Amino acid sequence: MTEVAVEELAEPYLRGVLATAGLDVEYVRGEGDTLYYRRGDEEVPVLDLVGGYGSTMFGHSHPELVAYARELLAAGTPIHAQFSRHPYANDVAAGLNRIIRRETGSDESYFAIFANSGAEAIEAAMKHAELERYARVEGLRAEIAAHAEAARAAAADGVVDAGEVDAAVAEATAHNEALFAATPLFLAPVGSFHGKLAGSTQLTYNPVYRAVFSALAAQARFVPVDEPGAIDDVVRSESRWLHDVVADGGRVTVVRRPFPRFCAVVLEPILGEGGIHEMPEAFVQDVQRLAGELDIPVVVDEIQTGMGRTGAFLASSHLGLRGDYYALAKSLGGGIAKAAVMLVKASRYQSSFEMMHSSTFAKDSFSCLIAGKVLDLLEAGDGEVYRAAEERGTELLDALRGLRTEFPEVLTDVRGRGLMIGLEFAEQGEAGSGILRELHGSGFFGYYLAGFLLREHGIRTFPTSSAVHTLRFEPSALISSADIARLTEALRDLCREIRDTDGGRLAPV
Ligand code: F0G
Repeated sequence: MTEVAVEELAEPYLRGVLATAGLDVEYVRGEGDTLYYRRGDEEVPVLDLVGGYGSTMFGHSHPELVAYARELLAAGTPIHAQFSRHPYANDVAAGLNRIIRRETGSDESYFAIFANSGAEAIEAAMKHAELERYARVEGLRAEIAAHAEAARAAAADGVVDAGEVDAAVAEATAHNEALFAATPLFLAPVGSFHGKLAGSTQLTYNPVYRAVFSALAAQARFVPVDEPGAIDDVVRSESRWLHDVVADGGRVTVVRRPFPRFCAVVLEPILGEGGIHEMPEAFVQDVQRLAGELDIPVVVDEIQTGMGRTGAFLASSHLGLRGDYYALAKSLGGGIAKAAVMLVKASRYQSSFEMMHSSTFAKDSFSCLIAGKVLDLLEAGDGEVYRAAEERGTELLDALRGLRTEFPEVLTDVRGRGLMIGLEFAEQGEAGSGILRELHGSGFFGYYLAGFLLREHGIRTFPTSSAVHTLRFEPSALISSADIARLTEALRDLCREIRDTDGGRLAPV
């Protein structure tokens, strides 16, 4: 039989890009921290340190989760039964509330809106925050209209000048209507990543993902996190005022009232795609103070950092960062289901939102029951998994710090917490080797480093997508000391290649 070439139709360009760094392998099986790709008749094992970009806190194909999934499907669990009671969703929400209470000391409940992906959970939070803001705007509109009415009545009674009232109300109405019609603003740290849907991509700092689509949705103002007070400056320059015409004591005055222009502050406790940077304490304090003063909700994106990855359920709990909203996804589905959730503090919750946001696929029994099982696994044994994440993470951090001391000219920084670690490589734009300069100039430097580790050492890692000189390490809580030793050896080989040779082995043939 003659073989017919298959036309490549599913993102062929991306595959081509992966191929240039030797990363276009097909994984056929996963187990724990190992992924297997096929080469001829054999399966080649790879130590997976990308971990589904944070979605495999329990590794690939965790036996208990897989067995449970099988059991659920065999029992015919109803996956598409929208608009009916969903006690399993309630169980997940209750479990999350118990954990959040324990970690943050909060005594307030959080209501849960389920979603399919991280980006959708973020967009649900954006929409809910806008619903809150809308209610405030409408309240102000009604108050201002009532004041205008009262001024007109005062003019009719001859208490104030009718012409003056009409002119002031006309000016104020035109001014206010322009503000009411404008899209709100979000505040987010420089380097943020919150997803790539039409709304969430506007909260994602990297202009490659954002700029082209900026006309589609409300914008963010990005705030540098290492300049104390920077967020106050941004808010001051972006603040707007409503004009309120008030007739009082025979006089017509125009009072300026703050316009609720900011929908929410949205932030990751540790920037993931932005290069693994934990939010500085001073920035967290600035956010918390300012949000309190202006009554802007704080949305904490724990999609990559949450679910125990940093040694606590919420990475924000290490920082004293408290969310009015939390977003969780990735590891919530245990590496096998697509599950995401957005949590809103009871005092802010708008129950009408439940009629305004839904999806065919969200809140189904399968993903909720798996998420419930994931929470059980996380919470089992009195915090065993959290401790493992912290201890293994410290071991990995120490190993990488040792390498940085050994290769100061190649490695510029080691950062992170628990099992979310970044290793930053020096720029090679001025390297003596033409090969290294060329790889640097491609803009894909980290992908070549990843290709080297895959080809030469059977180790899978990737750079963070918006900081391509930083390799990420996000293994499962099952990572062993032997795995860490293996990574250290592989990185030593990579550092020597960069420091002592022309870097020829980084460029795939
Ligand atoms: N928020 C954070 C902090 C993320 O890291 C991601 C995804 C999202 C939101 C969006 O979630 O992909 O389920 O829609 N990060 C992936 C990554 C893409 O590359 O780390 P999603």
